[in-house]
Amino acid sequence: VNNRELDVVVFGATGITGRQVAAYLAERAGESSIRWAPAARDIGKLRRLLDDAGVDAPEPIRADLNEPSSLSAMALRARVVLNLVGPYMLYGRPVIDACVSSGTHYADLTGEMPFVRSIIEEFDRPAREAGVKVVQVCGFESLPPDLSVLLAGETANERWGQGLASVDVEVAVKPPPGLPRASDAVSGGTLQSLVAVAGAEDADQIADPAVLIGDLAVAAAARRVSAITLAPRSGRGGAVIAPMSPAAFINPAVIHRTEELAAVAAGRPAVPFRYREGVVLGGRPASLPLRWGVAGVLSATQAGLRWIARSGPSVRQPFARTLARIVPASGFGPSGDRLQGWTWSLSAQARTVEEQQIEVRVDADGHPGYLATARMLGEAGMLLAEDRATPERAGCLTPAIALGTSSRERFKRAGLRFSVQA
Ligand SMILES: NC(=O)c1ccc[n+]([C@@H]2O[C@H](COP(=O)([O-])OP(=O)(O)OC[C@H]3O[C@@H](n4cnc5c(N)ncnc54)[C@H](OP(=O)(O)O)[C@@H]3O)[C@@H](O)[C@H]2O)c1
Repeated sequence: VNNRELDVVVFGATGITGRQVAAYLAERAGESSIRWAPAARDIGKLRRLLDDAGVDAPEPIRADLNEPSSLSAMALRARVVLNLVGPYMLYGRPVIDACVSSGTHYADLTGEMPFVRSIIEEFDRPAREAGVKVVQVCGFESLPPDLSVLLAGETANERWGQGLASVDVEVAVKPPPGLPRASDAVSGGTLQSLVAVAGAEDADQIADPAVLIGDLAVAAAARRVSAITLAPRSGRGGAVIAPMSPAAFINPAVIHRTEELAAVAAGRPAVPFRYREGVVLGGRPASLPLRWGVAGVLSATQAGLRWIARSGPSVRQPFARTLARIVPASGFGPSGDRLQGWTWSLSAQARTVEEQQIEVRVDADGHPGYLATARMLGEAGMLLAEDRATPERAGCLTPAIALGTSSRERFKRAGLRFSVQA
């Protein structure tokens, strides 16, 4: 792949998130030697949208899911394809297939775990043989917690020679001042993806924290020590902790897979630790009842999603069809001017098997789901395109395993500042 004409292609650059990834790469191209191009099925629309957003983009590539040859042609031109065409369980497979067959690294933002599992089953071996990295769930979900937890584990091992027993991840998000709009939180693309997962044949897998673990004994251990809990709980300093939003079932599965892959690489047995996460709802004491109320609604939404996913197809499929008509469609979502001014932080508090403590923090800016995510994916794409910038390892990998913990320095450029306190 050394002779590819481009480093990174952004496929789906007309979407809410795709446009932001394109904007990030255009900005990075001004300060580095990266060669990139946006790609979409409708070149006219793409040019118009990027012009409106003031993105200085190179000549675009036309690629359409309905024309497999256009996907291979796109993949063959680049070292890395960043795929923003979702819902991934409907549209992702042909793009991954084209990348693995072309020897092109691949990264996306899926949070659809049964789909990730099916991709591992089908493509892990061919990707390893082809020396290709397939990196899914590479945005706000799950890159920051995944890198933080791996970093905590590596640091604990270096300092004390101990493995982790538990990790608590808490995320706090501060929106910009002013009245929030419904479209500020999630995009139509994300909502349609949640609906697609809930209606899928293998939907019962979504709430399984071990859905991505290959070894049956390790999977059973992960389920035993680290079941996903959805009830709101009290946190430090009077905070209320709600389940992770928009979905509580994504990060745990990725983090347990990272532990399994890290163990295999180190030649040691994988020992799943207890992983718990949530969103911090902080505020004045007077707002406590309101915060418990909000946390209750978020918990009930996640519990409802899990209930639907676990119910039989006769309940699930009509429900998903109806929901797909009700929730906003592609194109709905936070506009470019609503993505700035957000700040957020993540704290991963880890305990080792002998009660040593370590905390990894991430302080970040930009709307977590659509701006910070886009920058993370853009930077991940640049890293994957560079020789020796990431660990020598191929296959279907988690973000932390694919990029390695030393990549955290590079994510400063994307607005994420990692720090370790032990
Ligand atoms: N994990 C995370 O942290 C995270 C964060 C943000 C988003 N996401 C995920 O990322 C995905 C995209 O989200 P979004 O909100 O940006 O979606 P969106 O605005 O709906 O964009 C979807 C993109 O897919 C393209 N597309 C659809 N059908 C196509 C086809 N047949 N051929 C080529 N392109 C096609 C669309 O092109 P047209 O413009 O031509 O229709 C558009 O570029 C979703 O699955 C979402 O769940 C994840």
